[in-house]
Amino acid sequence: MLERGPSGADSCQPWLDIDLTEYTLTRSRSSILHPCLQKLLPTLTTERVLDVGCGPGHLISLLPTPPNLYVGFDLARPQLTHARHAALNIHSEFIQADCRSLPLAERPIFDLIIASCLLNCLPNRRDLHHTCEALYRRLRPGGHLLAVVPHPEFDQYVLTGGAYSESGAAYTAIVNLGSGQLRFPNYHWTKRDLMSAMRTERVALNTLEPTADGEPPPYLVIVGAQ
Ligand SMILES: C[S@@+](CC[C@H](N)C(=O)[O-])C[C@H]1O[C@@H](n2cnc3c(N)ncnc32)[C@H](O)[C@@H]1O
Repeated sequence: MLERGPSGADSCQPWLDIDLTEYTLTRSRSSILHPCLQKLLPTLTTERVLDVGCGPGHLISLLPTPPNLYVGFDLARPQLTHARHAALNIHSEFIQADCRSLPLAERPIFDLIIASCLLNCLPNRRDLHHTCEALYRRLRPGGHLLAVVPHPEFDQYVLTGGAYSESGAAYTAIVNLGSGQLRFPNYHWTKRDLMSAMRTERVALNTLEPTADGEPPPYLVIVGAQ
């Protein structure tokens, strides 16, 4: 369920107070997105993985084999604490940082960079493009940037009941869990915005639209190659 939020808000700050431990309990994650990623990830090299906006590290268990190195960045310290637990048995590092100014200069390059449900947290087009460009620079030749976003058409369908929301419009996503609700600050990026930020010439797999029968797809998965 989605409801409109204050338009033009320009901050990722609210993420500092959101507890994502139960996030995977949503049906769209556990039955639609995660099985899709479990099929996709074994087709990519996953030895050195960077997960930007890693949250509590829910994607670590979806990797086909334990990576040689897993680096997670997130704005929110509590998420990083959970992610460290999720990665106890692998060589990993978790760092608090904003994806718009990642301390990546001294880092090795990666086979796979994941930005799962992160680009929709970015409040303007400049941040969207700048972040994708910076991430592509940290990939080895032939490496992949895997972006997962809430499906732009699904957003529009639920959010407006048929009308079109503007590119960049802010809204609050409300996710129903058994124990309550999670509210996320989100920004609506159209498919064109996303493909442009991911640079069409670099997009290896155009799009994947994980879906359940008869339902609009809740996510869009885009894979770009360096
Ligand atoms: C919807 S959650 C997704 C978590 C995880 N990637 C997943 O798919 O399970 C978004 C995550 O991005 C983080 N985040 C939001 N804005 C960010 C920013 N500017 N820089 C780094 N992380 C950010 C939030 O703290 C949160 O953990």
